[in-house]
Amino acid sequence: MTVQIAPFNSDYHKAARELRADVLRKPLGLSANDPAFNDRESDVHFVALKEGKIVGIVVLVLDYKPGIGKLRQMATAKEVRGKGFGIALVNALEEYAVNKGLIGITLHARQYAVGFYEKLGYQITSDVFQEVGMAHFVMEKEIK
Ligand SMILES: CC(C)(COP(=O)(O)OP(=O)(O)OC[C@H]1O[C@@H](n2cnc3c(N)ncnc32)[C@H](O)[C@@H]1OP(=O)(O)O)[C@@H](O)C(=O)NCCC(=O)NCCS
Repeated sequence: MTVQIAPFNSDYHKAARELRADVLRKPLGLSANDPAFNDRESDVHFVALKEGKIVGIVVLVLDYKPGIGKLRQMATAKEVRGKGFGIALVNALEEYAVNKGLIGITLHARQYAVGFYEKLGYQITSDVFQEVGMAHFVMEKEIK
C-alpha cells in the first residue's frame, strides 16, 4: 500500500475524482459536475494506491479556519475496505497538517462513518444536521 499526494489535475487526481464520484455521489443520485464537488488547487489530495491503481482518496483544506484544516471527500474503493487504506490516508493527512503548523482537523461525517473517525480519535462536536440529504455530524480532533 502506498499513500501519496496527487498533484492538482494529474492523472492520479483525475482517477481519484472518479473514485469519489462513484463512492460518494452516484449512490445519492448526485452529479459529479456539481460546482460543490470542485477541487481547489490549494487543497491537498492524498491518494492510496494498490498495485498502481487508485483505491482511496482524502482531501485536506489547509485554510479552513486559522490553525484548523478540514478533511473532506474521504472514500476508499469497496474491494479494499477494512484493509487499512482509510486509516493510512487519514494518518498521512494529519502528519502533513502538523508539519504545516495546523493544530486541529474538523470534518463533516456521514452518520454511518462516525465509528470510523472515532477509531481515529475524532469526537462529535455538533448536533446532527443534514447535508446532501443525509444525517451528518461535525467531528474534530486536536493534532500534534
Ligand atoms: C469510511 C471509509 C472511508 C473507511 O475506509 P476503510 O478503507 O474501510 O478504512 P480502514 O480499512 O482503514 O478501517 C479502519 C478501521 O475502521 C473500521 N471502520 C471502517 N468503516 C467503519 C464504519 N463505517 N463504522 C465503524 N468502523 C468502521 C474498520 O473496521 C477498521 O477497524 P479495525 O482496524 O478494528 O479493523 C470507507 O468505508 C468508505 O469509503 N465508505 C464510503 C464513503 C464514506 O462513507 N466516506 C466517509 C464520508 S464522511
